[in-house]
Amino acid sequence: MPAQIDPHAVPDGLPRDKMPVLRTVPMPADTNSNGDIFGGWIMAQVDIAGSIPSIRLARGRVATVAVNSFVFKQPVSVGDIVSFYAEITRVGRTSITVNVEVYAERDPEALRVVKVTEATLTYVALDAQGKPRAIGES
Ligand SMILES: CC(C)(COP(=O)(O)OP(=O)(O)OC[C@H]1O[C@@H](n2cnc3c(N)ncnc32)[C@H](O)[C@@H]1OP(=O)(O)O)[C@@H](O)C(=O)NCCC(=O)NCCS
Repeated sequence: MPAQIDPHAVPDGLPRDKMPVLRTVPMPADTNSNGDIFGGWIMAQVDIAGSIPSIRLARGRVATVAVNSFVFKQPVSVGDIVSFYAEITRVGRTSITVNVEVYAERDPEALRVVKVTEATLTYVALDAQGKPRAIGES
């Protein structure tokens, strides 16, 4: 490995004060008819990313009750390294609201980091019957 390259270093442009909950690389099968990555693929990953801190906080199952906002700021391309950062912004009685930010690393030879998506979603903690459960109760 070349001495000057640290593949574990956080590239410039990615948040330095938090860890991604997901990082993945979209494949050709994830493209739309324009050749960009299909918005539904990004939405699915964002939903999974937001659910992770929610499941941890709720200590159990959650369901997505609302996508409060969703903005596709820039397209995502096949081969981008896509990182998803999820932060809880509100905790209600049974619900948890999460902000998800998505960044793409592209052009490894002349690396650019682009914020591609930002979304806010709300999850509800569920009991065994699939009904809302107060967070903190088992
Ligand atoms: C999630 C679900 C169990 C909630 O049931 P419900 O009877 O609507 O529950 P409630 O009205 O008591 O609301 C539960 C919580 O969700 C919040 N909520 C409900 N609708 C909301 C909306 N549109 N936006 C934001 N929060 C919402 C409520 O404010 C409440 O939060 P709180 O307890 O922290 O105050 C039910 O709506 C459901 O099963 N939905 C389908 C979930 C699903 O299949 N998701 C997609 C796949 S994961």
